[in-house]
Amino acid sequence: DLELIESAKRKAAFKAVEDHFDSSFSYVGIGSGSTIRYGVEAIAAHLKANPPAKGHNIMFVPTGYQSNELVRRARLLPLPFDSLPDDVMLDVAFDGADEVDEELNCIKGGGACLFQEKLVAMRSKKFVCIADYRKNQKRLLTAWPSIPIEVAPFAEYEVLRALRLLGSPDPVTRLNADSKAGPLKTDQGFFIVDAPFPQLLTDGDEAAGTDGSGKNGIYSVERLARKIKMIIGVLEVGLFFGENGYEAQSKGKQGGQKPV
Ligand code: A5P
Repeated sequence: DLELIESAKRKAAFKAVEDHFDSSFSYVGIGSGSTIRYGVEAIAAHLKANPPAKGHNIMFVPTGYQSNELVRRARLLPLPFDSLPDDVMLDVAFDGADEVDEELNCIKGGGACLFQEKLVAMRSKKFVCIADYRKNQKRLLTAWPSIPIEVAPFAEYEVLRALRLLGSPDPVTRLNADSKAGPLKTDQGFFIVDAPFPQLLTDGDEAAGTDGSGKNGIYSVERLARKIKMIIGVLEVGLFFGENGYEAQSKGKQGGQKPV
């Protein structure tokens, strides 16, 4: 039921903003997709009710063309990611997801944005993912069928070949709605390959049913993401790591990113 879904998205967005946005923030990341529209609406409403101190500006860092449009239309101030001063971390980044598991790993990129989303997420002190009830699954690839991967067009066939070798039976390059117009292009001018992984997150010899599922398989989103990322021609993978992954990634220079 479309109405129910839209109202769930909106509710989740308003709750996320109520809990994790503050008018004293300086830099806020804004993701892409249909849910984040409500996030921006909630931020605009929050700012109307709680205006920032006189002279204080909040800069909103978009994750692509659509996201920049959302920021502009809400009359918020956009700041391109590559204009951020080196020593600045975003106070928070809000974004949607296609699926979220119980370890807070996410599949992203259903709307063809994932590279800029990951840049912005990793540069934020806190990443707040707004997702309605349909997306909440024990494990990834339950309701969402494949992993979106951003790929250099020249390497398309090589990446498809390598993904099949990794165990994806039928990876496909995403086409425009009018398929005659050819592959869809991302904000970087790259392609999106959607790779299903039915045996996903299992790993050959090491797969000895140690995950307690009764099936052969070790569930490690991070390990699969790393393998995909190693393929030459892959710009970024639409797997965002949850609690453990982010901690590992943020050790050292990234500062402490904690999912919520
Ligand atoms: C964009 O490519 C994505 O990562 C989105 O955040 C994700 O697809 C969620 O989109 P919806 O909010 O439209 O479901």
